[in-house]
Amino acid sequence: MFVIDTIAELTKTVAKVKSEGKTIGFVPTMGALHDGHLSLIKRARAENEVVFVSIFVNPVQFNNQDDLAKYPRTLERDLELIGDYADYAFAPSVEEVFPTPPTEKYHFGPVEEVMEGAARPGHFNGVGVIVRRLLDWVQPDKAYFGEKDYQQIAVIRELVRQCDIKSEIVPCPTVREPNGLAMSSRNRRLTPEQFETSANIHRILVESLELEDVPQIKAFVESEIAKYPEFKLDYFEMADADTLQTVHHLDDAAGVMGFITVYVGEVRLIDNIRYK
Ligand code: PAJ
Repeated sequence: MFVIDTIAELTKTVAKVKSEGKTIGFVPTMGALHDGHLSLIKRARAENEVVFVSIFVNPVQFNNQDDLAKYPRTLERDLELIGDYADYAFAPSVEEVFPTPPTEKYHFGPVEEVMEGAARPGHFNGVGVIVRRLLDWVQPDKAYFGEKDYQQIAVIRELVRQCDIKSEIVPCPTVREPNGLAMSSRNRRLTPEQFETSANIHRILVESLELEDVPQIKAFVESEIAKYPEFKLDYFEMADADTLQTVHHLDDAAGVMGFITVYVGEVRLIDNIRYK
């Protein structure tokens, strides 16, 4: 695997791969890689001739400077982990990607106005800024994203539509710890006790699948989460799986998902589940 840290080298490499007529699979990440990221990278490996992975903690998508400062950075280990699967790792500095502060403004419409978009002002614009640039540089046939960040995929689909980007966006299922907790780089910041308690988030969502309709599901999830003093619920929303707009009944949409965000101490964890 080759490690690239400049845009010039990256675009030169992409041009060479393209001139050889090879297909490109791309997995954008912010590093601190775990088996969730690896599942995307392995899928990219299986479906493409050449695989690029980016590792870049994108400052413009953090609306909380403390979260940015505490975001785990483990580049050496990350490169070792992906060495068997990726052909090229792109790990630029902040100055390389943003020599001047970015000024692009995107409007993704209703999918960005709810949940993470409402809770984290500017977050999805920052995601749009970096993903647009990365897709422009890497020009992948397929780009892989995890369903743990389900709303992010909806925003990126809208970005791709608006900007007429040719890459196919491939959603990949959430990978979980043996105890059910969705894998996340932020899990490293949990104490062992918090890690065990956090498994209840997924357990509660799974149990809620048995309930009849949205009001019962919401009441159950909210009251179960409240039983854990370590948890502070940010939101639990039931929404149309396509538009991400709130539903009041399971019959309101063809696909319905539940989206949860919980603070465990200072760590903000997100997860989701599909009801239909
Ligand atoms: P990051 O949080 O590093 O995640 C990179 C990719 O891995 C995302 O598509 C995310 O959804 C996926 N992923 C994370 N945890 C996962 C899990 N447990 N199972 C399956 N997939 C998982 O998401 C970002 O970075 C950034 O916003 C980025 C798209 C790179 C733009 O900066």
